[in-house]
Amino acid sequence: MRKRLVVLTGAGISAESGIRTFRDMGGLWEEYDVMEVASIEGWQKNPQLVLEFYNQRRRQLKSAKPNAAHLAIANAENDFDIYVITQNVDNLHERAGSSKVMHLHGELTKARPVNNPNNIIDIGYNDIKWGDNIDGYQLRPHVVWFGEDVPMLTEAAKIVQTAEIFAVVGTSLNVYPAAGLLDYAPKGCPIYLIDPNDVNVWRNDVTFIKDKASVGVPAMLKMIKDETP
Ligand code: APR
Repeated sequence: MRKRLVVLTGAGISAESGIRTFRDMGGLWEEYDVMEVASIEGWQKNPQLVLEFYNQRRRQLKSAKPNAAHLAIANAENDFDIYVITQNVDNLHERAGSSKVMHLHGELTKARPVNNPNNIIDIGYNDIKWGDNIDGYQLRPHVVWFGEDVPMLTEAAKIVQTAEIFAVVGTSLNVYPAAGLLDYAPKGCPIYLIDPNDVNVWRNDVTFIKDKASVGVPAMLKMIKDETP
């Protein structure tokens, strides 16, 4: 019986695919004011600026490729019952072949009219332009902005509670409620954290693999596979 491996990922897992992180050196929040381009207030103040911010990231995603970390997680589905919970809005886990991926903060390749968060349409890598609408309601990125709820949080927490192994990859654990998912890992469930930098974690039962994801993720998967009877 394959063990349930839950993997919580952040921007760091896509860094080696050329997708910028947020709080790293050269991260997006060094260049942009997060409240201007990734918050509900920013949308209300200057929606065209917000649309352009996500259009740029969506265009860049088209030419990005999954890296060895995304691929290792996808391929490990042969050995583990894997559930990916990602904070990322890129589609690199899916393009690597992962079959169970939950996007806590939404998806760049999707959009929705401002009046109905459930009317989600696939736009691929196309721009959303000011004036694009459904029944007269402007289209917006299907992304969770600061100041908005994370609708999938409860479902994500339930999944983490089923983990037999829990891995955290490429996240500074700075943003709640996503970071709080760490508290839902069952007592005694092995927890691995992969990051080339130090990440301060309040638990003392975490195995740190201080490396970039493309090296640390395959190494972790080999480690747990060898340990799994
Ligand atoms: N491999 C693994 N981790 C890496 C790599 C790499 N090659 N490069 C950087 N990292 C790590 C950084 O050390 C950092 O701990 O990835 C982490 C990225 O942290 P953040 O930039 O804060 O990104 P993230 O944690 O995903 O941010 C969470 O904040 O702005 C919001 O909605 C946005 O989903 C995002 C959320």
